[in-house]
Amino acid sequence: MKRLFLIAVPWFAFVLTGVALAADATLEIPTGTMTLEAPEDAEYKATLSPVNFPHSLHFSYSCQACHHNWDGNGPIKSCGTSGCHENFWAPKPGQADVSETSIKSMTGAFHQVCRDCHRNEADQQKAAGSKRIVTGPVACAGCHPDPHSDVENSDKTLSVPLGILTIEAPEGVEATRNPVGFPHGLHFQYACKDCHHDWDGESEIEACTSCHSETEPSGTRNIKDEANQMYYLAAFHNACVTCHRDTDKKQREAMAQGKIKKADLPKTAPVNCNGCHSSS
Ligand code: HEC
Ligand code: HEC
Ligand code: HEC
Ligand code: HEC
Ligand code: HEC
Ligand code: HEC
Ligand code: HEC
Repeated sequence: MKRLFLIAVPWFAFVLTGVALAADATLEIPTGTMTLEAPEDAEYKATLSPVNFPHSLHFSYSCQACHHNWDGNGPIKSCGTSGCHENFWAPKPGQADVSETSIKSMTGAFHQVCRDCHRNEADQQKAAGSKRIVTGPVACAGCHPDPHSDVENSDKTLSVPLGILTIEAPEGVEATRNPVGFPHGLHFQYACKDCHHDWDGESEIEACTSCHSETEPSGTRNIKDEANQMYYLAAFHNACVTCHRDTDKKQREAMAQGKIKKADLPKTAPVNCNGCHSSS
């Protein structure tokens, strides 16, 4: 069924959507597999196989699960950037500059991030009673196979608009509200698939309205009505407003507990009509 919606020529999708991608910048995300290995200037001779890392298999997580310092707008720095995990291997005791010891070596960071998550996923899925455990390798040879892996840096990338996307009512709808300025990157603390729920992590991303293309409710006006799933307004309001109400509720709950500092409160997002359909 879903495949039926997949036909959309770019310009056509653009007109149909009414999404003006007036984003000021885009981010190129490498999709496919990348090979992680010691940088050439690491002064370290690798003993094991370099690690083939299927980047896009991991896009069901928030980008910040790994790029934990990223603000959702600027460029993404490589893990080994100066001032970050720039030591490939932990310095020998006594050789470390004290100011650097608090930052993990690159190998330490990778082992902690990669292996711990694979292990936790397996534990959680087992605890939840799943029959098929979907996770990555925990054993050394799962990441460092013998014979060694070939270097396999895929050059495929996907362009992602940053900045504010303007979402307008589709062609044929007589809009009663102002278009919505949607700060895309502010939402990258969530997994891409929370919104682009049909995305496989590699292909081009389709506009919501290439599937949710109905411009009128079928039958009832209730956006929770299943018959309205393909009505574009139901899709947007159900996606956007539901989560924003949730964030509002979380903040109110946190405030009710009293002790929390203002800066540590969960972020809120607009729930009022004008918060999204700005009046100016
Ligand atoms: C499971 C961990 C993980 C997740 C989740 C993840 N990445 Fe990555 N990403 C990496 C690793 C590891 C690299 C390689 C970094 C390096 O070379 O230092 C990388 C590299 C990148 C690069 C290239 C950076 C450079 O060095 O030029 C970009 C851009 C990027 N990721 C974007 C994203 C975006 C956007 C998301 C969310 C959709 C995401 N990543 C999710 C682990 C992850
Ligand atoms: C936040 C959790 C998480 C993190 C962090 C993470 N992974 Fe994974 N990884 C997974 C899950 C879940 C899968 C299984 C995905 C699937 O099959 O759909 C997976 C799959 C893999 C696979 C593919 C296994 C296969 O059968 O093809 C490899 C290799 C892998 N991860 C390596 C890494 C490396 C290297 C890192 C660190 C740079 C890393 N992962 C970080 C959760 C994680
Ligand atoms: C989930 C993937 C993963 C698992 C499992 C894993 N590693 Fe690694 N390991 C990496 C990554 C990523 C790097 C950094 C890139 C590189 O050098 O290959 C690394 C680097 C290393 C290095 C430094 C590079 C070299 O080849 O000398 C050693 C040594 C190492 N790992 C040993 C181990 C041992 C021993 C185990 C099992 C106890 C293990 N690793 C399990 C991902 C993993
Ligand atoms: C979290 C953001 C958000 C909030 C809050 C929100 N909307 Fe929307 N709304 C959207 C998006 C996105 C669209 C689809 C783009 C468009 O048509 O402007 C939309 C579309 C509409 C449309 C159809 C298009 C039009 O202009 O006639 C109406 C009507 C509408 N919203 C009314 C409301 C009303 C009334 C409220 C307050 C009760 C509200 N919205 C609150 C995001 C929001
Ligand atoms: C909170 C919801 C949300 C999240 C999270 C989100 N997006 Fe989007 N994205 C949208 C909306 C809404 C649009 C506007 C276009 C549309 O109508 O589909 C969009 C547009 C896009 C487009 C342009 C599509 C086109 O029509 O050309 C790309 C590419 C994209 N997003 C990639 C991503 C990636 C990659 C991530 C994860 C880093 C991500 N998005 C996270 C909601 C989201
Ligand atoms: C490739 C087609 C396709 C694309 C692209 C798509 N959807 Fe959907 N969406 C569907 C289908 C089919 C369903 C109903 C069954 C399901 O959940 O998969 C659905 C269900 C939903 C639902 C739950 C039903 C409801 O009304 O509450 C929401 C919310 C939603 N989509 C929002 C979005 C948003 C927002 C985007 C863009 C960021 C988007 N969808 C992109 C096909 C798509
Ligand atoms: C999964 C949860 C989630 C979804 C889905 C979501 N948002 Fe948000 N939104 C947030 C959070 C959290 C913030 C506050 C982020 C921050 O301040 O860092 C936010 C902030 C905003 C803001 C205010 C930005 C500002 O400058 O204060 C707007 C406007 C907005 N979202 C519109 C939308 C629209 C339109 C959609 C649907 C296309 C949407 N959001 C979907 C969680 C969500």
